[in-house]
Amino acid sequence: RPHLEMHAFDGLVMEDVPLARIAEVAGTPTWVYSAGALRRRARALKAALDGAGLRASVHYAVKANSNLAVLRVLAAEGLGADVVSEGELRAARAAGIPASTIVFSGVGKTERELRLALAEDILQINIESAEEAGMLSALAASLGRTARVALRVNPDVDARTHAKITTGKSENKFGVAIDDAPALYARLATLPGIEPVGVATHIGSQITSGMAAYRAAYACLAELVQALRGAGLPVKHVDCGGGLGIPYRDEPAPLPEALAGAIKTTLGPLGLPVMLEPGRWIAGPAGVLLASVVLQKQGAARRFLVLDAAMNDLVRPAMYEAWHGILPVSPVAAASPLTPADVVGPVCETGDTFARGRALPSLTPGALVAFLDAGAYGAAMSSTYNMRPLAAEVLVDGDRFAVVRDRQGFDEMLAGQRQPAWLGNPQP
Ligand code: LLP
Repeated sequence: RPHLEMHAFDGLVMEDVPLARIAEVAGTPTWVYSAGALRRRARALKAALDGAGLRASVHYAVKANSNLAVLRVLAAEGLGADVVSEGELRAARAAGIPASTIVFSGVGKTERELRLALAEDILQINIESAEEAGMLSALAASLGRTARVALRVNPDVDARTHAKITTGKSENKFGVAIDDAPALYARLATLPGIEPVGVATHIGSQITSGMAAYRAAYACLAELVQALRGAGLPVKHVDCGGGLGIPYRDEPAPLPEALAGAIKTTLGPLGLPVMLEPGRWIAGPAGVLLASVVLQKQGAARRFLVLDAAMNDLVRPAMYEAWHGILPVSPVAAASPLTPADVVGPVCETGDTFARGRALPSLTPGALVAFLDAGAYGAAMSSTYNMRPLAAEVLVDGDRFAVVRDRQGFDEMLAGQRQPAWLGNPQP
């Protein structure tokens, strides 16, 4: 994380901006993203693909972080987008990502979403079932449009990641069974309003267990493409999905070069352009969640650091038992003796625990801490549970920073709620 450094005077600094300065201006909890890190990571990924001699395009998975400023930084790097909802498609377009570089993924696109995708004439729609193919064909034909379609295949491989984010096993809801793929692809070619352009897969997220699962999945796709070609069906490109993991703790981090190599050895011989849909690898390490200590509480058995951030902000620990590094921001705290602490939020459930027995210094109310690697699936997954407003978001770029999303206001949180007349007026 070259964008984060501990300075003797300023404490934890992102690029050239002390995080304490950001907390002064924006308050806490606040998500902070490094534009430099986003750019560097986008470039590193592209360089790895180029280095392997692949013709590849990168379609950033907007679900990881859909902040418009983040999307604009990535758009300026020439990344396309992988979207899974009308909201994400609109966000990508609003950030200036050309429709001609947008892929629409997902197991349950609604008619309304498909309509928008067709109206925008996006690059590709990845379909996941015969049922969806039928729906899309009827819709496209009725609109006088042609949808470029890739067929998402479920290769039945185990990506050996958390069960909740494994997607390439036959029991998962995603894609069509490899055995059904050739017949369905052939059928796509006969359907009005549909042009089959390729095959796709995505086997899971936070893959850190090496390249074996990737290789197995891509080998499966390569075999499928050979069979399709043998049957005289056109295949223009292969969508390799996302999933590349990052080291939250001490996991062996697969490098993009390894992924590029796995693609090269399995799909390279086809001589087709490939597409990638990375989310976490690009955005994860580029962001932190900045929070303040509300109080330090000595329980009967444990020390608790109670923060002003909670599971509604960063849900990954509660949802996936995920580990995030937690650093004190002040240089004095950073140099103080470490003892175990449970780091918790103020939400009324025990699951609102970020870390147990974490080695941290004693911290006084108001002290700042930073959750590392929170740029992906952080703000994007947050909620207003316990009527807690969505946190602010800040973009750092060199020595500049800007609030790129205001902290949600309390009026805003209530806006949209309506009272039926029969309840009468609230008591003052
Ligand atoms: N493509 C498709 C079709 C996907 O479903 C996903 C992620 C990606 C690409 C991007 O995967 P990535 O490169 O980010 O691994 N909320 C979870 C992660 C869920 C991932 C869902 N799909 C977490 O916080 O760990």
